[in-house]
Amino acid sequence: MSDIRDTIRQKYAEAITNKRSCCGGSSSCCGGGTDDPITKGIYDGAVLDRIPEGVVSQSFGCGSPVEMAGLKAGETVLDLGSGAGLDAFLAGGEVGPSGKVFGLDMTDEMILTAEANRVHWGLKNVEFLKGFIEDIPLPDGSVDVVVSNCVINLSPDKEAVFREIFRVLKPGGRISVSDVVFLRPIPEDIRTSIDAWAGCVAGALGKDEYAEKLKKAGFTEIKVSPTKIYAFTPEQLEDMFPDLPGAANLDASGVAAGAWIFASRPN
Ligand SMILES: C[S@@+](CC[C@H](N)C(=O)[O-])C[C@H]1O[C@@H](n2cnc3c(N)ncnc32)[C@H](O)[C@@H]1O
Repeated sequence: MSDIRDTIRQKYAEAITNKRSCCGGSSSCCGGGTDDPITKGIYDGAVLDRIPEGVVSQSFGCGSPVEMAGLKAGETVLDLGSGAGLDAFLAGGEVGPSGKVFGLDMTDEMILTAEANRVHWGLKNVEFLKGFIEDIPLPDGSVDVVVSNCVINLSPDKEAVFREIFRVLKPGGRISVSDVVFLRPIPEDIRTSIDAWAGCVAGALGKDEYAEKLKKAGFTEIKVSPTKIYAFTPEQLEDMFPDLPGAANLDASGVAAGAWIFASRPN
């Protein structure tokens, strides 16, 4: 687990420090940059208008989970893998001064960037925490809504993540998550490629598997809805799987999708 975490941390530290697209190859991570097939076009214009200038180019997400969360004034929100803070800032605007948003991330460079953005934009109801999504540093039953954008697929221990989300949610609380899922099985050599793992691909769950794991953790009202089905070009495939012979010829269209995941913790 620590090998995968170290690789992922290093990739995202480099990505945010160099502010570059990092889909594949030696710089592989999930999304980033305006031409990235995963990140491109995930926020609509009205949402972009509410985001501080410059923060959009620091996004590595695969959906817009805050838009789908139905946040209300006064709610407490936790953003898992908050990166440079974009979704946490959006959530902060929705819950208002009587609400609170925690952003949690394990990468120092991400926390520093997010905190600098927060200070720059004078946002008082958002706080960034350093830690692991498999061991959330918040008390039981303290959060109304958990959001997350393209992070859970990166975890080598998803059962722990779902168990922790369930623990920190209040009874009746909900999750609104954007994540990569598989729509059909992938070859084992892709699953075992650490570069592909860091690129939000190898670690992704199947659509039904995602729902099953949430159910096992105790969640109800589970929905896993694909929102953007990916069609990778041969060049993108080569870049994503640098160690895989013949990667450019993989039959990868329609294999993976960005999905919106909703579930609630029963009362
Ligand atoms: C794909 S980026 C997404 C960042 C942000 N959600 C966004 O949409 O821009 C993944 C983020 O999750 C963080 N991360 C990955 N695995 C993590 C873990 N196990 N615990 C905490 N943070 C993690 C990384 O440091 C990185 O900032």
